[in-house]
Amino acid sequence: MRAPAESATRAKSPQWKVSRPVVQTDALTKTYKMGDMQVRALRGITLNIEQGEFVAVMGQSGSGKSTFMNLVGCLDKPSAGHYLLDGEDVSRLSRNDLAGVRGRQLGFVFQGFNLLPRTSALENVELPMLYQGVKGKERQRRAAKALERVGLGDRLDHTPAQLSGGQQQRVAIARALVNEPRLVLADEPTGNLDSRTSIEVMAIFQELAAQGLTVMLVTHEPDIAQHAMRVVTFRDGLVQRDERVAKPLIAREELTRIDSERPEDAPLDVSAGSAP
Ligand SMILES: Nc1ncnc2c1ncn2[C@@H]1O[C@H](COP(=O)(O)OP(=O)(O)OP(=O)(O)O)[C@@H](O)[C@H]1O
Ligand SMILES: [Mg+2]
Repeated sequence: MRAPAESATRAKSPQWKVSRPVVQTDALTKTYKMGDMQVRALRGITLNIEQGEFVAVMGQSGSGKSTFMNLVGCLDKPSAGHYLLDGEDVSRLSRNDLAGVRGRQLGFVFQGFNLLPRTSALENVELPMLYQGVKGKERQRRAAKALERVGLGDRLDHTPAQLSGGQQQRVAIARALVNEPRLVLADEPTGNLDSRTSIEVMAIFQELAAQGLTVMLVTHEPDIAQHAMRVVTFRDGLVQRDERVAKPLIAREELTRIDSERPEDAPLDVSAGSAP
């Protein structure tokens, strides 16, 4: 027996449908060639993500999560299958065109924040707009607005070293938002953060999703994944499970509870007495 031909699994772009998914993959495959060896990192991923969905991707090490992220993030091209981003088939675009799609439609958040040191929060957030040719004043206005959106309106002039880990990650989220992407991709965004700060970051993703932004997050931590609306679990390059979260954890409520459990905590003054 043969596997269904690609034309059989493709076809039918459902024009009659009112809301089209932001992400639509069809039998997406990635095979890495290593000399004579072939590594089948993705073996046919068919997945839709709707606008405003907050999806967590889980799975063992080597199951294909980052490979999938890289394809969905237009950082790499599939070996076979199709990927429609906001209805447009981007699976056969050139690397150059993919870079354009990334700049216009996608925002990225990484485990290590990837902020420029000795550069203010405002300037870090301005950076993606520089590549898009947005003019100075407008750049500053939009960067400040994005920072306000993540609760850092009073930290515009701070450099990464003058911000906490959670604040740095919020700057990175503001940077990911500033071109108004269709989709935000976050690979282990809480991997370097303590548990309270991780929940703060989840609160922001939940708020963004509630405003209609689509978020896809890779995580190894089951309790982080429980903040999403849906958890997709990869195994050996295939989707093993795809489940709605019955009762997502509500990050704001958790933060309120955590803070009420230790009311005696005063903010630390990190600046006092540091100069010799
Ligand atoms: N550039 C590459 N060249 C060859 N093989 C690769 C490459 N990138 C990933 N692989 C292989 O593809 C498979 C999937 O890797 P991937 O990085 O997607 O896994 P992952 O689920 O993100 O794992 P982790 O949880 O460890 O980050 C693995 O077997 C890996 O060794
Ligand atoms: Mg990975």
